This record gives sequence, C-alpha cells and structure tokens, in this order.
Amino acid sequence: MENLLTTSELTVPEIQEILKCAQAFAEGKEWKPEKQLFLANLFFEPSTRTKCSFEVAERKLGLEVIPFETTTSSVVKGETLYDTIRTLESIGVNGVVIRHKEDNYFQELIGKIKIPVINAGDGCGNHPTQSLLDLLTIKQEFQSFQGLKVSIIGDIRHSRVARSNADALTRLGANVVFSGPKEWFDDSMLQEANYEDVDTAIETSDVVMLLRIQHERHDGSTSWTSEEYHQMYGLTKERERRMKPGSIIMHPAPVNRDVEIADELVECERSRIFKQMENGVFIRMAVLKRSLQSVEGGNVHVNDYQK
Ligand code: CP
Repeated sequence: MENLLTTSELTVPEIQEILKCAQAFAEGKEWKPEKQLFLANLFFEPSTRTKCSFEVAERKLGLEVIPFETTTSSVVKGETLYDTIRTLESIGVNGVVIRHKEDNYFQELIGKIKIPVINAGDGCGNHPTQSLLDLLTIKQEFQSFQGLKVSIIGDIRHSRVARSNADALTRLGANVVFSGPKEWFDDSMLQEANYEDVDTAIETSDVVMLLRIQHERHDGSTSWTSEEYHQMYGLTKERERRMKPGSIIMHPAPVNRDVEIADELVECERSRIFKQMENGVFIRMAVLKRSLQSVEGGNVHVNDYQK
C-alpha cells in the first residue's frame, strides 16, 4: 500500500518516476486497474482545483468515485476521521483522498488502516500533489531543475506548498529563495531557503512563484491593505517588466488578482498558472496509479502503460 502524505517522504528517483508517469498521461498514455476499484474524496476544507482534478483523474482511470460530502456525512454527528475512514474501508472503498484543516491529520490513520491515503492538503503542513504538479510544470519548461533559481514569494508561514516545494526543488538541484513580508518568515525556514528582498528575487529568478495570503489561517487581519501589499510584495506590471528573459510566473491558485499578482499578468505570456491546473490532472492520475497498483486488482489492464 503506497500512501502519499508529504513530498519529503519521496526520494528523488520516486519524484522523477511520478513526473515521468504524469508526462506519459499528458501525452495520452492510458492505464486502468483490472477490476472495479472505489475511491472516496473527503474534503473537510474548501477546494476547487484539487477536488475537481482528483475527480477528473479518477474518472479518466476508470475508478468508481463514491460521493462523499462532509456536510451530509456522519461527520456532522461527531464521527471521528478514523471511524469515517474505517467505515469506508469496511464497505469496500479501495483508497481515500483527504483534505483536512489539521496539520498531519494522517498520523492518526497510519498503521491502523489498510487502504492508501492520498493527502490533498493538511492545514499549513503539506500539499504533495500541488508540489508535484508544480515540479511537472517547471520540468516541462526547463527540462531540468539543475541550477534553476526559483523564488517563492508571499505567505510562506501559512502556505502548505512553500516549504515542501523548497525541499523538493532543492533536492532536485534548484536554488530556492523565499521572499515577501518578513513577518511571515523566520529563521527556522532558513533550513529550506534563504530570504531575499522581493525586487532581487523577481529580477534574478527563472521561476517566480507567488502565494496567496492565507487569511483563513491568520489570527488577526493583515497589516496592509490589498493595494499596499500589491505595491510592496506583489508582482506588479512594473516588476514583471524586470523579470529575466524566458522566466515564468506560477501560482498555486486561487489567485487574489491585484494583490499578489496584477490582474493583467494572471494570463500573460509568462504565466503558467492555468498550465499548472491542467498538469494537476496528470499528476493526480500518476499518484493514484502509484497507490492503486499495490491494492488487489490494481494491475495494468488497458493499453499496458509502460513505466
Ligand atoms: N491550489 C489548490 O489547492 O487549490 P484548491 O484549494 O482550489 O484545491
């Protein structure tokens, strides 16, 4: 049984294998399990991209998607996460995709259930499929990570993408810097990346990755208005003109237009924001395949996808 809980648990060869598999799916390769398999997507926090792209990926792989809405499930009667997953396992669900507001929610499940868990985001912790789709988008653009400079700018502290991306990108050979408000950066983050001022980061990077301000994870309101934040830390049109030739803009989305990025830049030539979303389906197909190959009946069936 292969869970996917964090990016840091994946070795570099495992990351490369997932990217290769996702690229094969992007190029039209097919894979389906040899028998009927059931998946449930449990989203305890809102989502558009992750939830819908997992569902598209599951349907493309011929999986049976069990409708599950937290608001109409027995979670509202107080059933725990563990009992919910044990119930799904008991009735024959073969794997679960979970997004949850608690960091490391999966620790209470590991070792106690037999079906794979795929983490679709835990609190401020991890979002491994987002990291992997970011990596695929960068690889498609530059073919290699070696020597690339990637700046991750914005709400580093509350992001579940920033630190796992920094870890994976560094292991793949990229030079990662963090930027944005110093209030959202502390010395513990130096383990993952150095801090750089926003203008230097934007002018010298091959990849400028912007992050949304995660208001829902802040204790109080932020110190700046949206306009002030945009001028101090955002990718303004003026800053975009100073980006390196050939450099690209990324953002995990949802985007706050005219806050972390100017409205006109969201779909500009440099932007790969919608490409990231497109790649999300292929990465999730690759991750589901990796997890389901290990369950009974999860062998190759259609068009014998080759590694
Ligand atoms: N990037 C991302 O996780 O978006 P959603 O919250 O819409 O899934």
